[in-house]
Amino acid sequence: ISLKAFNTFRFDYEAEYFAIADNLDSLRALLLWGKENDQIVTVIGSGSNLLISGHVSGLVIINRLMGINADTSNSENVTLRVAAGEEWHKLVEYTVYQNWYGIENLALIPGTAGAAPVQNIGAYGVEVKDVLSKVQVIDKQTADVFWIPAEDCGFAYRNSHFKGKWKDNLIITAIELKLKKQAELELSYGGLHSQLKGEATLKSVFELVCEVRESKLPSPAKIANAGSFFKNPIVSQEKHTSLKEQFPELVSFAHGEQYKLAAGWLIDQAGWKGKEYLGVGVYPKQALVLVNYSESSANALLALEEKVKHAVFEKYGVELEREPVELPIPSLRQGD
Ligand code: EPU
Repeated sequence: ISLKAFNTFRFDYEAEYFAIADNLDSLRALLLWGKENDQIVTVIGSGSNLLISGHVSGLVIINRLMGINADTSNSENVTLRVAAGEEWHKLVEYTVYQNWYGIENLALIPGTAGAAPVQNIGAYGVEVKDVLSKVQVIDKQTADVFWIPAEDCGFAYRNSHFKGKWKDNLIITAIELKLKKQAELELSYGGLHSQLKGEATLKSVFELVCEVRESKLPSPAKIANAGSFFKNPIVSQEKHTSLKEQFPELVSFAHGEQYKLAAGWLIDQAGWKGKEYLGVGVYPKQALVLVNYSESSANALLALEEKVKHAVFEKYGVELEREPVELPIPSLRQGD
C-alpha cells in the first residue's frame, strides 16, 4: 500500500504490510504479529513530522488510538489523559474552550497528541514538556504497556529519548498533561504581546497564535510540507560573538549559556528563501520550511536540503540539522 496519504510531504513510497490500530488491544496484537513473523514494525501518527525517503519494509501501523479524559477534581489543575491518535490542534481548541491554560501557544501545530513528546513540540515560548506529566508507552517486543514520568524522557529543544535511544523499542499510546484553571499566559516570545490587539486572554492569545502561524506557515492540507525542516542551531558564546561582529543583524536567542540562531534568518540571508528546485522549494514566507510542490519521491528534497545546508555552512560556518524524523530508519535500510 502507498504511504502517500500518510505523510504530509506526500511522498509516494510503499509499506510492505499496513494496518490501522484504533484500540490498544489491536495495537498489541499487531506488535505480536510483527514479532512472530520477524517483521520490523514502524508506527506513525499523522505523518506531519516525517520524511519518508524509501519503501518501508515490514509492518507500518497508523496510530489512531482515541479518547480524552479530564480529571477536574483539583481546584488548581486539570489532569488530561489523551490517547495518542487524537489530533493535537483539536485538543488545544478543546482546552481553550474549557478555559484551561497551558497549551494555547501550541495551537495549529500539525500532528497527533502522541507525536507531541517525540520532538517535544514547541512554539511561542512554550514546549509540550512544560505541561506534560507522563507518557504511556507500549514496548514493541513484549507488548507491555506502562507510564514513564516526563522527567525521565530526556526532553530538550526539539528532542527526546523517543527520537533517540527509545526510537526502535517504544511506541507512545497516551499522554498525560497538567493544565491550569487559573490564568497564566506566556507572551514573551517574538513580540506576541505587542501584536495583541485587545486584552490578553486565553482566547485572544490562542487566536493570535493561529493568525501568526496561518500568515507564515503553509497548511499541509494545501502545500505538502512537514513544518520546520531544520532545527534552530545552538552555538557557543564565542561563535555567537564572532558571527554577531560579522553579521550585526543576526537573529538569535539566549539558550542557557549558549545561543540559538534563527535558522530561517540564516537561510533567508543566504539567498534561499522562496527558491524552487525541481518540484520542491524553500517556502517563500518562512525559509525554515521546505515544501513539496509536485514530487512523488524524496530525491529532489534531499538534494535541496544539501544545497541549503551547504550555502549556510559556507556563509556562516554553521551546520544545520534536520528536524523531521526519517523513514525508513537509516540503520534499517535494506542493503546497509
Ligand atoms: N526569519 C527570517 N526569515 C525567514 C524566517 C525567519 O529572517 O524566512 C527570522 C524572523 O525575522 C524572526 C526569526 O527568524 O525574527 C524567528 O522566526 P520565527 O518566529 O518564525 O520562528 P523560527 O525560529 O523560525 C521556531 C520553530 C517553529 C515555531 C516558531 C515560533 C524550530 C525549528 N521552529 O521557528 O516551529 O512555530 O519558532 O515559536 O524551532 C516547527 O517546528 O515545525 C515549527 C514551525
